[in-house]
Amino acid sequence: MTTKPNDRLSLDGKTALITGGASGIGLETAKVFAQAGAQVVIGDRNEAALQKAQAQLNDQGIALETMFLDVTREDSVVEVMRKVAALGSYEILVNSAGTGARMEATELPLERWQEVLNINLTGTFLCSREAAKTMLKQGKGSIVNVASIMGLIGGGVYPNPAYQASKGGVVNLTRSLALDWAARGIRINAVAPAFVRTPLTQSLLAEDGMEEKLLARTPLGRMVETYEVADAIRFLASDAAAMITGHTLPVDGGWVAQ
Ligand SMILES: NC(=O)c1ccc[n+]([C@@H]2O[C@H](COP(=O)([O-])OP(=O)(O)OC[C@H]3O[C@@H](n4cnc5c(N)ncnc54)[C@H](O)[C@@H]3O)[C@@H](O)[C@H]2O)c1
Repeated sequence: MTTKPNDRLSLDGKTALITGGASGIGLETAKVFAQAGAQVVIGDRNEAALQKAQAQLNDQGIALETMFLDVTREDSVVEVMRKVAALGSYEILVNSAGTGARMEATELPLERWQEVLNINLTGTFLCSREAAKTMLKQGKGSIVNVASIMGLIGGGVYPNPAYQASKGGVVNLTRSLALDWAARGIRINAVAPAFVRTPLTQSLLAEDGMEEKLLARTPLGRMVETYEVADAIRFLASDAAAMITGHTLPVDGGWVAQ
């Protein structure tokens, strides 16, 4: 039976976990998912931000659950995945938790390098691994990773080697898991945003001349809005993308097409 295009984009009846969901792109994705009919859980290590996010969305008439989650801690990931699976129809995971370290390699302490890799890459692996245990049993699931244009190019704006390496890893982990799980009903894709105004980029964008520099590199000539990334994530998570797996979709105003 064929469905209508809007039905394929609907997330009705699906439970979704969004890591790093208390802020920025993750929070906007929570809003878009809830409006598309999903039962949404946001997981984040920032408990104050979790409470604020829940209050903010409740004020807008949007219901969601919050759970403390540290994506770098295996025990925390296992516990949250168990709780989300118990809600039923756990079909969507969005890996949005992330951080950066804008420093020359020669100035970058090993601990900071490891922290970025742990959150951005190992966290994505751990959450995907644990979510997949439920999704493989169900025979269906869709995972969307939040990579970055910096995982597709070498950078070239300022030094940020740990971030670049971690996001490049996320792009190829996406391909690798997509191939491993394709025959068993799980799709895994990624989005690669250019620069979005969020707490993560606040200090960067406050630097003199930085915004102009970034816009000069963006063919469409403006910053990416959080909802534009969230809409792309929703598409990839939904049945509208049923034949797409292993793909990284730039949401970048044409940046990587250059
Ligand atoms: N903002 C941008 O310009 C941009 C561009 C490309 C990609 N991204 C990526 O988008 C994702 C979201 O970034 P954002 O801009 O919304 O940033 P943000 O700082 O607003 O949100 C990131 C969230 O991740 C959470 N987090 C960090 N470490 C965590 C951990 N160990 N466990 C659980 N939660 C953790 C933070 O508490 C925060 O709530 C990141 O992966 C980032 O690399 C952002």
